[in-house]
Amino acid sequence: MVETLFQRLKQTYNGKKVFLTGHTGFKGAWMLKTLSILGAKVKGYALEPQTKDDLFHLINGEQICESIIADLRDKKRLEKEIIDFQPDFIFHLAAQPLVRLSYDIPAETFEINVIGTANILDVVRLLEKKCDVVLITTDKVYQNNEWIYPYRENDRLGGYDPYSASKACTELVIDSYRNSFFNSKDYDLHKKGIAVGRAGNVIGGGDWSKDRLIPDIAKAFAIDKPVTIRNPKSIRPWQHVLEPVIGYLLLGANLAAKPIQFNQAYNFGPHFLDALPVIDMLKLAMESWKGGEYRVESSTNQPHEAGLLKLDISKAIIELNWEPKLNAEEAVKITIDWYKYFFSEPEMISNFTFQQINSYLNS
Ligand SMILES: NC(=O)c1ccc[n+]([C@@H]2O[C@H](COP(=O)([O-])OP(=O)(O)OC[C@H]3O[C@@H](n4cnc5c(N)ncnc54)[C@H](O)[C@@H]3O)[C@@H](O)[C@H]2O)c1
Repeated sequence: MVETLFQRLKQTYNGKKVFLTGHTGFKGAWMLKTLSILGAKVKGYALEPQTKDDLFHLINGEQICESIIADLRDKKRLEKEIIDFQPDFIFHLAAQPLVRLSYDIPAETFEINVIGTANILDVVRLLEKKCDVVLITTDKVYQNNEWIYPYRENDRLGGYDPYSASKACTELVIDSYRNSFFNSKDYDLHKKGIAVGRAGNVIGGGDWSKDRLIPDIAKAFAIDKPVTIRNPKSIRPWQHVLEPVIGYLLLGANLAAKPIQFNQAYNFGPHFLDALPVIDMLKLAMESWKGGEYRVESSTNQPHEAGLLKLDISKAIIELNWEPKLNAEEAVKITIDWYKYFFSEPEMISNFTFQQINSYLNS
């Protein structure tokens, strides 16, 4: 009998202590719910959710984890919470993740993303037990050459806008800690595996962030307004949020089993043909919504955003035995299903989110 993802991941995470930063955010809340289904004991560390109808509260997040509301830059607090908890795993998702906002608060973006990660790794140095750490960056860490080829893990890093640059800097910081304090040759002394997950744009229910395509569509269509889009021809590697979430968990499981082998970075993205222009994604969303209108905002006077970005996912497929399960149409469909369900039966959305995760893990 073929082992399901659920069985495979439960073996690793059931009963394990997982310190999850960013649990009040979009990806973090999906990760939290998935970890709770797998039987993990989760302690979350993040700021209060910033949006109305945030997913963390919709899934009753406070009941499925110990939720610490604090800042990554408060190093004393971070240290106390990690050291008290003695985690088996750390998944670091907390960040200032928005390109446009990074133009308004560049120094703060660097502080949260770069120093925040250094703070986590400093505390990891103090842990004496075995601990496996998966740090989340982004596809935007690659120096974007605007070419048609997908980026591989060993391609050059860079970053035009402050967000991308902050995540590329974060990777340098991680590399430095890995070499200096968590070197494979000294594994028996420190007992730490340090890996990086790089994913592209994700979609899924419960994302209410500003300036992201699907949240903009859902918010506009729900009130029968046309959605405004920028850069309709920009190609992005879209994927459902569960794809990287499961990828990060598989990476953590492999890292725990073979820390010296998996102590590295992995791309998580859709299959090559699922990197679609914004306009195609919008049309798929309109089909699923069965309606909706849009208008294109001219792109003059807008901050620079990368036009073309694809990820090569061969390494994760071959080494982690991970693979995207949903193509772009399926990913858009289950995302739009989530928003439609939310607008019609908000009190049942926690259960609906559970069902989406469960059917993904067991399909
Ligand atoms: N959503 C995407 O399309 C996408 C794509 C690539 C990479 N990522 C990365 O995935 C991770 C999660 O992104 P998301 O989309 O869930 O973002 P989000 O904005 O929904 O959540 C961010 C989380 O980080 C926390 N946070 C922010 N600043 C903090 C601080 N100073 N101290 C403590 N916590 C803080 C927030 O409270 C929240 O829990 C980020 O590292 C992001 O860079 C996201």
